[in-house]
Amino acid sequence: MTLAWNKTRFIKSCVKSEEYPKFGHHTNLVAICGRSNVGKSSLINELCQHKGLAKTSTTPGKTQLINFFSIDDRLVLVDLPGYGYAKVPKAMKAEWGKTIATFLNEAKKLKLILFLLDIRRTPSAEDLEFLEWLAAKEKPFLLVLTKADKLSKTESYQQIGSILENLPYSGMEYVVHSSKTGLGTHDLRQKIEDYGTH
Ligand code: GTP
Ligand code: MG
Repeated sequence: MTLAWNKTRFIKSCVKSEEYPKFGHHTNLVAICGRSNVGKSSLINELCQHKGLAKTSTTPGKTQLINFFSIDDRLVLVDLPGYGYAKVPKAMKAEWGKTIATFLNEAKKLKLILFLLDIRRTPSAEDLEFLEWLAAKEKPFLLVLTKADKLSKTESYQQIGSILENLPYSGMEYVVHSSKTGLGTHDLRQKIEDYGTH
């Protein structure tokens, strides 16, 4: 199934499961998660070619709510709060963790989870913890290595190798992406269409 990716709109922001929007039978969900500042909101804007659809920020921890975006009335992209921002109080971190876990556990029409890692960084303890948690779920997930424009091709190859080596699972499917240059956008859309629309 292909999507045109040209009819995009923000649906709503919320925290609690009672507040999640209601979807029709034909609407499936794809969630986007990863640490704060990894590029989740930028990725949504790039996929939709719609700057300003999802709010981005140089200040980590900007998206504290779950944000829902409708694509062509067929698919909903879900921007989850970023974890791992050091400067928030412990209680708030726990709250975010709960918000993310509740969504991933309860969203019935969730077809795919995009798990974002910054291509320049070694996965953090929190990344690994989250990945382990994800792997225990029945849902398919896909690794997206973000901000690839910040590295040369050679550096990218080295980093991909080193990131994959640091993950506790082998053979993970991944897409190298840049929201600045559009690298990987076509591939990623295709994967989202493959998983997300049937
Ligand atoms: P939170 O909402 O805080 O969890 O962050 P986020 O994961 O939504 O990150 P966001 O998309 O807001 O991006 C964070 C910063 O990284 C912003 O300054 C973006 O402009 C920048 N950024 C995101 N993606 C890319 C990319 O592909 N290339 C470059 N060069 N910068 C990027
Ligand atoms: Mg964000």
